[in-house]
Amino acid sequence: APAATPLTLPSGLRSPTDEDIAAFRAMLPTPGSVVTDEDALAPHNTDWMGRFIGRSRVLLKPRSTDEVAAILRHCNEQGIPLVPQGGNTGMVGGSVPVADEVILSLAGMASIEAFDAASGVVTAQAGVVLEALDTYVGERGHRVPLDLGAKGSCQIGGNVATNAGGSRYVRYGSLRASVLGVEAVLPSGEVLAGLTSLRKDNTGYDLKQLMIGGEGTLGVITRVALACPPLSAAVHVTLLKVPSWANAVSLLAAAKGQLAEILSAFEFMDAPAVKLAVTHLSHVRDPLGPDEDAGATDGPFYVLIETAGSSAAHDREKLDTFLESSMESELVTDGVMAESAGQAAAFWELRESLPEAVGKAGTKVFKYDISLPMDAFYRIVTDARALLADAGADADVVGWGHMGDGNLHLNVAARGDVAAVAAALEPWVYEQVAAARGSVSAEHGLGVMKAGAIGYTKDAVSVEVMRGIKALLDPKGILNPLKMLPRVGEEKTA
Ligand code: FAD
Ligand code: MLT
Ligand code: ZN
Repeated sequence: APAATPLTLPSGLRSPTDEDIAAFRAMLPTPGSVVTDEDALAPHNTDWMGRFIGRSRVLLKPRSTDEVAAILRHCNEQGIPLVPQGGNTGMVGGSVPVADEVILSLAGMASIEAFDAASGVVTAQAGVVLEALDTYVGERGHRVPLDLGAKGSCQIGGNVATNAGGSRYVRYGSLRASVLGVEAVLPSGEVLAGLTSLRKDNTGYDLKQLMIGGEGTLGVITRVALACPPLSAAVHVTLLKVPSWANAVSLLAAAKGQLAEILSAFEFMDAPAVKLAVTHLSHVRDPLGPDEDAGATDGPFYVLIETAGSSAAHDREKLDTFLESSMESELVTDGVMAESAGQAAAFWELRESLPEAVGKAGTKVFKYDISLPMDAFYRIVTDARALLADAGADADVVGWGHMGDGNLHLNVAARGDVAAVAAALEPWVYEQVAAARGSVSAEHGLGVMKAGAIGYTKDAVSVEVMRGIKALLDPKGILNPLKMLPRVGEEKTA
């Protein structure tokens, strides 16, 4: 079993006592709002991959913004640290305690409060599960501009706090533009009442942007207003096989040019990743069949393309022309178009099963979520493979990701001497990314896992400004300590 993470909390913070727990009970009268049972706490003390383990003795489940404010006021006065927790699906250990912080779960705040049919703006409490929100707006002819494999568990508040990317990003862009309003409770207990649903608003600094992607270090998001685009009448999903990386890059350019405004996802998977999914997950199938070359260093690659538009006939014609020209020019060697919603879902299942599959393939998985320019994009996977082969490591090195956004998920499932694998990979991966002027966290954030690596992507002045903002809003450092920002002197740079 993995060892517990506990790190030492910054000085000035203290553990919650029985008196604090009694005070929390008085603030949160709804039964079940204060959880101290060890078994009930266990899943909240650990992330979904079991890589980070805290030892909190109390979880709070407030039911309103006022209750969140009361908790934060008390904790701030007393110097008691907290970790905000949504669906606990995060990838970087941001949502679990590093020691015995209070866990502040948003699961009890799960109401969808308003929907404006004219603008498609939905207003919801932070704890609404992403899939439930998508279903709700879907029934009203709209679509949440965000989709990801964890949709059944992650919460809209957690999505906003991580500025999650996912597979619709190529179409709708960053949540930073779709989130119109945020209500958040500051560490002081004051409420930042930014729940506007205005499309345009240039009155002063845009403070909600500090909460979007703030990873719960500056405030607790309690409500969001999100602009949801209209649901598309026609959705087509195709799965293609391309023989080389160069072809995949050309195919992306062709898709952006020819499919243009109807392109709604462009995801890639390398053949070893697909092989892990069909090997380790019995419900997952490869519609293009097993590949003799799986495991080769450069290809074949699988590309999942989704289009979403207003006219099935028009979209199908565009898609057919695109596919014909891609086949003729031999960019694509094989492909299948989903002919039913069930088939489309199966293609997506293959893509979305990869995080789980890679988790089953090794005793330890090293996950890197990086942005890289296209010319350096896949090379890091083949280089990592060669590096680990030379080191005699027992590991699967696979790549997949949101290729349309320049976002690669490099995953290494290691067995045996995982410490040697770790030593070979880090800081090597971060140095490669910095040399290519990429980002060491494209969409998962920094959490506790990568806080020390911020300097590979951000300059020292930027990190100092971030520290200043943190000190201004959270002078005692009670909110999500040791997450996102490195402690002074602990940042690494290339
Ligand atoms: P948590 O994991 O609970 O928390 C994440 C962070 O946000 C923590 O720092 C936490 O303290 C903070 N936080 C949570 N709620 C709040 C709140 N209300 N106020 C303030 N801070 C808060 N991510 C992507 O970007 N793209 C993907 O494609 C993607 N795919 C995934 C697929 C799978 C199978 C899984 C398991 C995860 C995936 N993720 C992906 C990771 C992603 O970050 C999360 O799934 C999601 O955005 C986190 O939401 P959550 O509610 O689970 O937040
Ligand atoms: C994905 O796109 O599959 C995810 O962000 C999750 C992962 O990298 O494991
Ligand atoms: Zn992703």
